Amino acid sequence: MDRELIQKMIDLAIEQLQYSYTPYSHFKVGAALLTKDGKLYTGCNIENAAYTPTNCAERTAFFKAVSEGEREFRAICIVGGKDGVLTEYAAPCGVCRQVMMEFCNPETFHIILATGKEQYEIFTLKELLPLGFGPANLA
Ligand code: THU
Repeated sequence: MDRELIQKMIDLAIEQLQYSYTPYSHFKVGAALLTKDGKLYTGCNIENAAYTPTNCAERTAFFKAVSEGEREFRAICIVGGKDGVLTEYAAPCGVCRQVMMEFCNPETFHIILATGKEQYEIFTLKELLPLGFGPANLA
């Protein structure tokens, strides 16, 4: 992936931290999702007093994009930390990995974990969700 584009995605994900709604965990997460056509959708985590309705930043970004008609994706950038302080990589939870599996090719979809504009690592969905179950299994 192009370094400039990666850094733009990191900037966007970091920008989302300000919208993260986390009165319970105070763990803020931001995401930037890149479509096949180069469009970017953002997301933040949104918590709830009943806890289980909480939506992760990654799923917020996916659901925003899918609800706008997007179906093909290239990459997602994720940042997060307690009180929005980025000390280590915020890896996607299992539910978010499964949502990625629904819409993305696990061999080619890239997950960029970052703690800053110059500090990032890229994984494929297959690396983070080996032997995943997806639409192909039901075909
Ligand atoms: N969280 C995310 O937004 N993404 C993940 O993949 C992991 C967890 C959020 C959910 C909750 O608001 C907070 O982080 C603590 O779990």
